Amino acid sequence: MRRLRKNEKIRDMVKETRIAPSNLIYPIFIKEDLKMGSKEPIDTMPGQYRYSKEAAVDELKKLEERGLNAIILFGIPRTKDNIGSSAFDDKGIIQETIKLLKDETNLFIITDVCLCQYTSHGHCGIVQNQEILNDKTLEYLARIAVSHARAGADMIAPSDMMDGRIAAIRKNLDENGFQDIPIMSYAVKYASSFYAPFREAVSSTPSFGDRKTYQMDPANAKEAIIEAKLDLEEGADILMVKPALPYLDIIKSLSEKFNTPIAAYNVSGEYSMLMAAIKKGYLTEDSIYESILSIKRAGADLIISHFTPKLLNGGL
Ligand code: PBG
Ligand code: ZN
Repeated sequence: MRRLRKNEKIRDMVKETRIAPSNLIYPIFIKEDLKMGSKEPIDTMPGQYRYSKEAAVDELKKLEERGLNAIILFGIPRTKDNIGSSAFDDKGIIQETIKLLKDETNLFIITDVCLCQYTSHGHCGIVQNQEILNDKTLEYLARIAVSHARAGADMIAPSDMMDGRIAAIRKNLDENGFQDIPIMSYAVKYASSFYAPFREAVSSTPSFGDRKTYQMDPANAKEAIIEAKLDLEEGADILMVKPALPYLDIIKSLSEKFNTPIAAYNVSGEYSMLMAAIKKGYLTEDSIYESILSIKRAGADLIISHFTPKLLNGGL
């Protein structure tokens, strides 16, 4: 076997898995209540920031020059209420950011569709008597999706995990003239402890209870197939597994069973644990590349990762 490992040239020729910039999607945080052009560091995610919309555009322009292809936007609104009104406001932080990005870049713009950053209670749905209502939530998710599409989003990515949301969003997009906007569904999203740094970053920790009545139990693998199948039947174009590293088995099984593109979300906790170890000197930055490679090797076509800037030209 060592004949094909003899030098860099031959190793490169027989390499089975490669990561291209077009496989990567960069998640970026836009905060409404920041001074024009400023950014603030996220303590739980070293190297990541909350950006004002103008600062985000500046940063993304630089990354585009280094080969960045696609982004997914997360908003941190100035105001929150019971029904997350700022999420479907046509002048909301995400809507305004999309317009600015469309003017100044050629990036493919994906938006996260959910309520949790915009609701006072921090849940991904509409709440009544401490219960997260399923069908009532669908109307609101559809309004958010249509509002993002109207602002110019290229693809919609619902992350709420309510039942029936893909069908509801598809129907509303179509009725509003957005038949050509694809949906990347967070189809298989686990109730994971690896989201903690993200929730700190966007202040979306639920004020009561947890997300276990809508997100999946980490113990379940067969259920992932049902979730994926339902979303596909409802009209999802791309199926996502989230988180990525602790769920490589799920990525593998979805990629074997379904013929749609598969996306995987290398979440905040996966980012922060490696960054913490690298900062301490316990690991080197090579561990980043190896981790992302494992996600691709497991069968993900697209990888959403906070590490994206390190994996573009001039990275690592
Ligand atoms: C919420 C949402 C979460 C993430 C993206 N959208 C976390 C959650 O369910 O609280 C996690 C992203 C990350 O950890 O990087 N809909
Ligand atoms: Zn949410």
